[in-house]
Amino acid sequence: MRIWVVLAASALGLAGASRVAAQRALGKLLFFEPALSVNGKRSCASCHRPEKAFTDHRGTPRALRFAGNLRRNSPTILNAAGQTSFFHDGRASSLDAVIEAVLTSPDEFGSSYAQAAQRLGSSAEYRQLFRRAFAAPVAANTINAALVAYLRAQTATASPYDRARAGGPALPATPAAGAALFAGAGGCAGCHGGPQFRDGQRHEVAAGQWVKTPTLRNVAVTMPYRADGGAATLAAVLTDGYHRPLPPRPLTAPEVEQLTAFLEALTDTTSADHRAPAALPRMRDLPGRAVGGQY
Ligand code: HEC
Ligand code: HEC
Repeated sequence: MRIWVVLAASALGLAGASRVAAQRALGKLLFFEPALSVNGKRSCASCHRPEKAFTDHRGTPRALRFAGNLRRNSPTILNAAGQTSFFHDGRASSLDAVIEAVLTSPDEFGSSYAQAAQRLGSSAEYRQLFRRAFAAPVAANTINAALVAYLRAQTATASPYDRARAGGPALPATPAAGAALFAGAGGCAGCHGGPQFRDGQRHEVAAGQWVKTPTLRNVAVTMPYRADGGAATLAAVLTDGYHRPLPPRPLTAPEVEQLTAFLEALTDTTSADHRAPAALPRMRDLPGRAVGGQY
């Protein structure tokens, strides 16, 4: 009796684990899938590029069909799950809301769930992947759930700073001084606090402009900075006077150097999955589409 209970539980556990793996793998395909956009040329990875720490290194991204630019800088998706508000102004309260906004925004995918489901559902390979991952057909909820599973797995918390805290090699003197300044006299941790270096709150960074505190993980490789993409370097963010809570007093040049070295020690671009899929499932309507789209 007891043995059966244990066996049944572990069988369920395994099924659960492999189902999550199937959902993540499907979500990864969808992240790089240009068929989700109306012209079949853009994917999530167009603006969240894996080789750029899942940003695009532009001040603001190009809009669909290059019709101008979006208004805000592309943030990284590394460590983005686990928040209660999303986008720079915090207006989306879930990852589902983020995905819906991207899919339907005329500047991003200009599409709809109906069109996305119709295209993916036209592919026998996709139909099978959805069945395996969800035991359910291609639909708005399963498209979202797959992408969310992928986003949730994109965590990166094994930076030199984390390794030092876990008893590994200590940080060199300059970043160590920056860490002390960050947590102490610099007053940074008041907003950029906790394991993700963010407080989930919005702050008035300039008169009338409320912006959510971004994570500082991987910040050294996600330039340019600020919601408007208007600061090219970390030193600029710390000294340009726009980041208004800062400074309670101006930072000295050595302090900027120390803080920058500390922020550089928060880089971990190896533990999350940065590989693009080798190929996308076959789809008759869009046979030659590029993995990750064309722009
Ligand atoms: C055209 C470029 C572009 C495309 C395509 C795009 N994003 Fe974004 N993404 C952005 C920008 C810009 C923001 C910030 C928007 C804002 O604050 O108004 C953002 C924000 C996000 C956020 C919130 C991050 C946070 O910490 O608040 C997530 C998650 C995200 N995108 C995931 C995705 C997914 C998943 C897709 C594909 C379905 C996608 N993005 C497609 C540019 C893009
Ligand atoms: C009162 C809250 C608050 C304090 C204190 C604060 N920050 Fe920020 N920080 C923010 C907000 C909000 C933003 C987003 C600003 C924007 O996008 O326009 C930000 C942005 C940043 C950025 C740019 C991140 C990006 O991806 O664009 C860096 C780097 C940064 N802060 C470092 C620091 C450092 C170092 C300190 C201490 C010297 C500090 N901050 C103190 C709230 C704060």
